[in-house]
Amino acid sequence: MSHELAPAHDLAEPPRRSFLVRASAALIGAIVGIAPLIPGIPFLLDPVLRKKKRPTEQPVRGKDGFLKVTTVDSLPADGSPQQFAVVDDLQDAWNFIPNQEIGTVWLRKVKDAEGKEAVQCLSTVCPHLGCSVDYKSADKQFFCPCHTSAFDLDGKKLNAIPPRGMDSLEVDTQNGEILVRFKKFRGGTPNKEQVG
Ligand code: FES
Repeated sequence: MSHELAPAHDLAEPPRRSFLVRASAALIGAIVGIAPLIPGIPFLLDPVLRKKKRPTEQPVRGKDGFLKVTTVDSLPADGSPQQFAVVDDLQDAWNFIPNQEIGTVWLRKVKDAEGKEAVQCLSTVCPHLGCSVDYKSADKQFFCPCHTSAFDLDGKKLNAIPPRGMDSLEVDTQNGEILVRFKKFRGGTPNKEQVG
């Protein structure tokens, strides 16, 4: 009795053909997998591309983090305080938002130790629990409506409610403009602790 065996090439695909089939399948799989990601590529590259579109000069910024706030001429000569907004350009990897208000300050004309005209800058944030400090022109005092903290014109506390006086901020004047280095401080502590 004789049994005929099938030729070897009928039982298995030739190695070269098998390799091409697998390689083609892998390529098609990779294309199908990557295709949905393609629309997102411009979004991922956006921060890199946008750098070219951003303004090279930020108009409100002076040197060393000082921000232009107003002019010396805008302050009353009698030394009474005026409140001003502090504006900065906000920027992260994806967004550039110009001229955003980041806080407010009290500014007033004072005399320095040598009798020369200078500018005093105080934060409007109450050092008690963070409400906004107001000014009573009749009493020539700052006061906070939340829990009745009171401060003199230099920001020194006048009662026991606030843990410290009003927070002073660095101020500079250049060509008649007032620049402020704006900071934020922790409330409810006797020491001035910067938080932002
Ligand atoms: S937050 Fe100003 S007195 Fe309390």
